[in-house]
Amino acid sequence: MVTPLDVASYNEGSMPKMIVLKNALFRNVQCSFYPLQVFRHTNRKYYSTQEAYMSAWQIHQYGGPEQLKLYNTVEIPTVQRPWDVLVKVHAASINPIDGMMLGGYGAATMNAFRRLTCSFSEKNEFPLILGRDFSGVVVATGKAIPQSKFKPGDEVWGAGDPWRQGAFAEYTVVNALQISHKPKQLGHTDAATMPYVGATCWSALCTLGTFAASQHDWKEHVEAKTSRSQSLFQSTSSFSVQLQQTTQPSLALVIGGSGGIGTFSIQLLKAWGAEVTSTCAGDAVMKVLELGADIALDYTKEDVFLELKRLPQFDLILDAVDDNSEQCMPLLKKYANARYITLKTPFLRNNDDSLFPLGLIKTGITLGTHNIKALQQGQTYRWGLFMPNGYAMKQIAELVDAGKILPVIEKVYPFSKLSSGLEKVATKHNRGKSVLDVSDQHVDVQHEEPEQQHAQANT
Ligand SMILES: NC(=O)c1ccc[n+]([C@@H]2O[C@H](COP(=O)([O-])OP(=O)(O)OC[C@H]3O[C@@H](n4cnc5c(N)ncnc54)[C@H](OP(=O)(O)O)[C@@H]3O)[C@@H](O)[C@H]2O)c1
Repeated sequence: MVTPLDVASYNEGSMPKMIVLKNALFRNVQCSFYPLQVFRHTNRKYYSTQEAYMSAWQIHQYGGPEQLKLYNTVEIPTVQRPWDVLVKVHAASINPIDGMMLGGYGAATMNAFRRLTCSFSEKNEFPLILGRDFSGVVVATGKAIPQSKFKPGDEVWGAGDPWRQGAFAEYTVVNALQISHKPKQLGHTDAATMPYVGATCWSALCTLGTFAASQHDWKEHVEAKTSRSQSLFQSTSSFSVQLQQTTQPSLALVIGGSGGIGTFSIQLLKAWGAEVTSTCAGDAVMKVLELGADIALDYTKEDVFLELKRLPQFDLILDAVDDNSEQCMPLLKKYANARYITLKTPFLRNNDDSLFPLGLIKTGITLGTHNIKALQQGQTYRWGLFMPNGYAMKQIAELVDAGKILPVIEKVYPFSKLSSGLEKVATKHNRGKSVLDVSDQHVDVQHEEPEQQHAQANT
């Protein structure tokens, strides 16, 4: 195991010694003096050796797949903040948002957050590394992170802030509060399917949807009260049993059960004890049922909303396809705190299209208008948004290790084939997740002098 200054003993080959030395020195000197990171970044070039670089997919402007360039001369990022972690990425999932961000989607909001929250060296928009989540191994930690939480060598997973550099690279830096230890039962490729969709579903259903929140509090209450040495998941199981004895299971509908969000949310809702109905195309019906859905309806065959009207009304609808609120609101229970949650939100697009704060005002008006109608029926209309969440990652890892959530992989792409993966995901006819195997290195790397890249980054 590597302690911050135990550089000489670091012999795992996953991190060049020069970088370990540099991180160790600067973590101890400068993380305590955060503003000094400016000087630390400037100092970087004095440590530049060939070993200090990694392979990464970068873009220097927004556009199509032709903008993606694979370099092997990108500087390995350093831990600049006390609560950050440097991770060697083994695998990352490919999401629709990556193709959209490649085209410039969300740029206005991302730049605003970069200006507000990022350190000096991270404020540049380009060169930009996409890739929203990862499974990998901790290489270095900020000074504020206790060894009991994360230490070099730990296997972790997570999805970080979307305005920071992403995970289509050999190394990435992420806030320690946004990751957890990865499930022990899964290898990196399987694990990488989950953090981004997992954090989105957690946020949509639990944080913003407040669907499982009460169940969750209850679970923690039980845990605090029982000093039994049972595992966290055993508590969850006993909770579920007890919940079902005293209350009816909640009825949930997932529109679009076959994609990344759909396959994950069905399993999460089932793990929380809900009864789940889902819609998908005919070829995916069996898979959706295998994942635990109680009812799967083929939306290509019949008027699926007519079919859904014949079923008992729902407590919750998660729409992973579009904003189908017109058809969905009548499917919800009335005056029972039922909610419709769509992942198709105009939040980022409004900010791209209109000057601040006009975009936010537009967004507020849309949300308000929907809710004025919904509240008259005792229902709510909500938006699900991705939010990084290390606590959610930890809970999901426990559900995975307990066999409650399985990875659903459509295809694994070697690192050099990112463009093919993005093209496939952009078709939106996905079945589960596409994964980029970052450890499966690579051909056709474009060589470019590091100083040249610096020049580009600063123009
Ligand atoms: N707001 C946020 O923060 C956030 C975060 C993550 C994702 N999202 C959004 O959520 C959506 C889903 O993401 P994802 O990763 O799950 O995408 P995905 O993997 O492409 O899945 C979409 C799935 O929906 C199916 N589908 C399409 N039309 C359908 C319909 N009318 N009825 C039922 N199923 C249908 C597709 O298969 P077929 O077309 O073959 O039927 C596909 O399996 C995307 O629009 C994404 O941008 C938003």
